[in-house]
Amino acid sequence: SRSINLAVIPGDGIGQEVVAQGLKVLTAVLPQDVKLETKEYDLGARRWHRTGETLPDAELDSLKNHDAILLGAIGDPSVPSGVLERGLLLKLRFAFDHYVNLRPSKLFPNTATPLAGRPEIDFVVVREGTEGPYTGNGGSLRTGTPAEVATEVSLNTAYGVERVVRDAYERANARPRKKLTLVHKNNVLVHAGHMWKKIFDTVGQEYPEVTTDYLHVDAATIFFVTQPERFDVIVTDNLFGDILTDLAAAVTGGIGLAASANINPDRTFPSMFEPVHGSAPDIAGQGKADPTATILSVALLLRHLGFDAEAARIEDAVAADLAARDGSARTTDEIGDALAVRVAG
Ligand code: IPM
Ligand code: MN
Repeated sequence: SRSINLAVIPGDGIGQEVVAQGLKVLTAVLPQDVKLETKEYDLGARRWHRTGETLPDAELDSLKNHDAILLGAIGDPSVPSGVLERGLLLKLRFAFDHYVNLRPSKLFPNTATPLAGRPEIDFVVVREGTEGPYTGNGGSLRTGTPAEVATEVSLNTAYGVERVVRDAYERANARPRKKLTLVHKNNVLVHAGHMWKKIFDTVGQEYPEVTTDYLHVDAATIFFVTQPERFDVIVTDNLFGDILTDLAAAVTGGIGLAASANINPDRTFPSMFEPVHGSAPDIAGQGKADPTATILSVALLLRHLGFDAEAARIEDAVAADLAARDGSARTTDEIGDALAVRVAG
C-alpha cells in the first residue's frame, strides 16, 4: 500500500501555526489506504538559542530519509540576520540540490488585489535555487574602517543554468499556452546575463513549440503589475526570482496565498515545500496568520509525490473557500478547519 514519510520543520513564528493547518488538511485529503508518517524536527530560533546549532549533520542525514519536507518559516529578530537563513534554510536548499524553486501565481476569486477583475492570471516562476548571489561567494575587507569593502559575487554555472532552463522549457511545453519568458538584466550583468540568454536560446531549439520571450528584470516588474496575463512560465536566477515572486504574490491576492516548492527534479534528495512568506514575528502566536499558502504548498507536495487528484482537491477547496469569504476575520485554525472539511467532503 502507499505511504508518505514526511519530515516536518515548523520553524519560527507563524511557521508553527500554519504547518499545523497544513498537516490537518493533508490528513483530511489522503485516502484511507495511504499511510502518513510524520517526523517533526526542532530546528530554528529556539534550537539555536538552546544549543547554538542551526542544522547539525545528524539532522541533515536523517532528513534525507524522508519522501518530502514540509517547512513553515525560518527567521527571528532575536537571532542575527542571516544565521538561520544561511545556516538552515539555504543549507537545506543547497544540500538537497533544490535547483528548481517553483512558485505558481494564480488570481484567486474574491481576493484583495489591485488586479481584481483583470483577465485570468496564471503563471509560474521557475526560480533557480542553488546559485546566483545566494552561494555566499563574497567577503568583507577592512571591516570597521572607512575603507571597508564588501563583495557578493553571483555564481552562475553553465551546468546549473542549463538544468533549470531545461526544467522550465519542460513545464512550458506541458502547459496549454507553451510560453516561456527569461528574466535577467543582460544589459548590465553582461557576463551572467549573456550566458543565461545563450543557454536559453540553445535549449529552446529542442522545444520548437514553446514561444519564448526575454525581459530585463526592471521591465518585468512593470508587466507584473500592468499586464500579468502576458506571463505563462518565467525562468530566472535566484535573486531576481526571490524579488519577483514576492511581487507576484502581492498583486495576485497577497503573500498569505503564495505557495512554493523547492524541487530536486532528479529525486536524489527529498524536495521541500514551504509558503513564500516568512515567520512574521509581529503576528506570531495570535492565530492571525493565513495558513492557505502552506496548504497550497501541501498541494504541490502531493503532486510531486504523484497524488494528483488529492492535490487538485486542495486547490479546488482553496478556490471555493476564497470565493465564499465575506471579509469577516477568521483565525488560522478556522481557515484550516474549513479547508479540511472541504477536501474531505
Ligand atoms: C524566500 C525567502 C528566503 C530567500 C530567505 C528567508 C533566505 O525570502 O524563500 O523567498 O531569500 O530565498
Ligand atoms: Mn523571498
